[in-house]
Amino acid sequence: MKIPLSSRLLACCSFVAPGDRVADIGCDHGYLGIYLLHKGIASAVIASDINEGPLQSAVRNSEKFGVRDKISFYLSDGVRNIPREFDTMVCAGMGGDTMVSILSSAPWLQSKQYRLILQCQSKTPLLRKYLSDTGWRIAQEKVLKDGKFLYTVMEVLWQPDYPKLTPAQCYIPPALIESEEAVAYRKWVAEGLRIATAHTDDAEKKQILLELEKAL
Ligand SMILES: C[S@@+](CC[C@H](N)C(=O)[O-])C[C@H]1O[C@@H](n2cnc3c(N)ncnc32)[C@H](O)[C@@H]1O
Repeated sequence: MKIPLSSRLLACCSFVAPGDRVADIGCDHGYLGIYLLHKGIASAVIASDINEGPLQSAVRNSEKFGVRDKISFYLSDGVRNIPREFDTMVCAGMGGDTMVSILSSAPWLQSKQYRLILQCQSKTPLLRKYLSDTGWRIAQEKVLKDGKFLYTVMEVLWQPDYPKLTPAQCYIPPALIESEEAVAYRKWVAEGLRIATAHTDDAEKKQILLELEKAL
């Protein structure tokens, strides 16, 4: 039986180190944790969700795939009600504002003990700014295409002495520029153009930039 994991979640899994104890926050169906255990990548998984329905579906799926005994389930807003014994927190499929709210309610996460893998659906620059201002460093950021959409996945480390992102870097982060994927390049250029568009009053220039953005 194949675990139905999207390319988006597979990309998140690719950042998990062998033997990691993983906390999947906002687990919904639970497939990320189930996959990590099934493949022998994670040594233990905490799966949590703010809603009872998704959590129960994760419990059922873990039974179906024979890993129920290796996952502990928690009904929790963010990390409020979960144990702190894990190495890597994965948060996928949520908006940047929700992630900021989860992270800001848990200052105890701000430690080299924890690594974050974040796959943000919207308001990504806001999340990058929060991470950088707080002392988190986006060590890697991958772009991938899943279906019709482009997504990014970040690996984030606690490194408060690292230089902060500039406002433009919150849109065009160095971690993305360093990525070799062509798709990353397209997204990078498109975001740059969007910023340029927002900062010019010249109508013709604006028109050209808009056309370029559309073409890209
Ligand atoms: C769109 S689903 C994404 C599920 C899965 N992580 C994925 O990427 O496919 C978002 C899930 O996050 C849960 N969620 C939203 N806000 C949350 C919060 N503050 N704490 C925990 N879970 C939350 C929702 O109930 C939902 O199951």
